[in-house]
Amino acid sequence: MKRLIITIDGPAGAGKTTASRELADRLNYKYIDTGTLYRVVAFEARFAGVSQDDDMGLENLCSTLNLNFVKDGRGFRLLSNHSDITDQIRAPEISMMASAVSARPVVRKYLMDLQRNMGRKKGVVFEGRDMGTVVFPDADKKFYLDASQKVRAIRRYRELESKNSQTLEEVEREIRLRDENDRKREVSPMKPADDAVIVYSTDISVNEVVDMMLDYIGMGK
Ligand code: DC
Repeated sequence: MKRLIITIDGPAGAGKTTASRELADRLNYKYIDTGTLYRVVAFEARFAGVSQDDDMGLENLCSTLNLNFVKDGRGFRLLSNHSDITDQIRAPEISMMASAVSARPVVRKYLMDLQRNMGRKKGVVFEGRDMGTVVFPDADKKFYLDASQKVRAIRRYRELESKNSQTLEEVEREIRLRDENDRKREVSPMKPADDAVIVYSTDISVNEVVDMMLDYIGMGK
């Protein structure tokens, strides 16, 4: 059977990660969370003291990125320059910084090449903000997953609960600010591709989302 490139874009907390992972699992595809890449750039920029609008500094940093994924008892761990930063990149300040550096064309250009390379072999579910619009405009199937801001904030809050001390209100504020940045930026703003199927997950479970996606792809039960 033909192996596809499937893209899932949408705002923070819409359930993209869980749906993409599950969809990839059921299709026996690879799953790539492209937000991780922007988070790594943000983390390394902060670590090196490079500011979010220092294009030259960001470009240098991107060209020396050294990323590896290794599997251990906890699942896949992300190593950047040999340090395990899997948990640190999920911190709220890194989320905001990731959104800020993602608006810089130098960063987007660098990561676009990296992402396209990752898609060369097909059989991949890509999750992000501009997967269906810019990185893979010819993707075989495109989805845009959305949900009400409140529901997204609650989901994100539950996900993070054991890891940080943000209140629900703080999570909702962060999501609102980030979505605004991501929607309004000039390069590759977050929006559904013209040919994307828009799925609202406010009132349905991730399993139902994945079933709908599989049906649409023609691989449902
Ligand atoms: O999916 P995430 O929350 O981990 O993404 C973090 C930030 O990275 C997000 O606020 C915007 C940016 N991003 C992007 O601009 N393009 C992508 N394809 C993925 C993420």
